[in-house]
Amino acid sequence: MQPDSRPGGRTTCGVKILGVGSAVPEGILTNHDLEQLMDTNDEWIVQRTGVRERRIMPPGQLRPTTTLSVEALRNALDDAQLKPTDLDLIVIGTVSSEMACPSTACLVAAEVGATPAAAMDVSAACCGYVYSLNMAESLVACGRYRRIAVLGCDIMTILQDYTDRGRNTCILFGDAAGCVIIGPSDDLSLGCMAQLMYADGSDWDLLYIPRKLTDLPDDVKPEDVKLGCLQMRGREVFKFAVSKFADIIAATLEKADVGIEEIAMVVAHQSNRRILDSARKRFGMPEEKMYVNIDYYGNSSSGSTGLCFDQVWRSGKVKRGDKVLFVAFGGGMTWASSLWQL
Ligand code: COA
Repeated sequence: MQPDSRPGGRTTCGVKILGVGSAVPEGILTNHDLEQLMDTNDEWIVQRTGVRERRIMPPGQLRPTTTLSVEALRNALDDAQLKPTDLDLIVIGTVSSEMACPSTACLVAAEVGATPAAAMDVSAACCGYVYSLNMAESLVACGRYRRIAVLGCDIMTILQDYTDRGRNTCILFGDAAGCVIIGPSDDLSLGCMAQLMYADGSDWDLLYIPRKLTDLPDDVKPEDVKLGCLQMRGREVFKFAVSKFADIIAATLEKADVGIEEIAMVVAHQSNRRILDSARKRFGMPEEKMYVNIDYYGNSSSGSTGLCFDQVWRSGKVKRGDKVLFVAFGGGMTWASSLWQL
């Protein structure tokens, strides 16, 4: 398959998964650890969110997002049996980039030795992996790029206020990275069957990370906020998520003309167990068809969907030929889906 063979590199081809990888830090932050830091308890956290523990990068780790992304990418390259120089493009969905410039993707590309592959970060909060996957798949399908590494990585633990002030938010989040490498296939049935991406910036203040006091919404008092830490209006986010998750699953299935019973696995952003359960029940899906790992990894924003996909892929819960539905929502507000024939 030579998708670049026509003038201008325009052609159409199938898109296949070449390799998958992920990485999580060894450190574990349990609900009982949080009890030592703030007024909370394991029972409350498990009941409201499903989270029992989450992974945490060592405090003071140099360039944590780059470090975890490099590990996930190396694992995916091993799985694909590819060299870093085989990549044309590295895209990382993240809200925890080390710096505004350069992108974390540039640092990762340099560290693994993928230069001069193009490299960029995508800021779409918890939708970062699904947004990046959709764009990358389209670039491969139209023949302009051959091998793209798509990552989602967030070090959410450096963006939390671990005091009573931040207790309704910090309990959810952890650190993780997921990676998938995609490339062209002669089989036109492989790849993305339908994708949807949406945003509504008018609700930005439901979930945001303020850098300075002037970033705060008018009704938020400076003393209620720690700058640089994630702020969340939990109840409003919950309502938003429950409705958008179900709506976007229905719309994606309709667009692809696929029934829910044909889906081998829903790989969803791990926002909160109650949100996932509510979407699954609305479609009458059995528990084993919506992968959940939030109990032991928490919500790792852009990292979570890619981490889940690596786990379902490696454990054989999905196989080539299966239909898999990726779905996410997050700050922005953003929501997105990607239905694949693997
Ligand atoms: N431990 C114990 N009590 C807590 C607490 C904690 N960590 N955080 C808040 N509380 C208390 C509140 O102070 C409040 O007490 P009060 O009734 O005496 O005032 C009570 O619990 C209820 O607070 P509230 O914030 O209304 O809780 P909730 O039922 O909405 O649950 C969330 C909070 C965050 C778990 C829930 O809103 C949620 O899951 N939202 C969605 C978040 C999400 O998915 N974000 C990811 C986006 S990608």
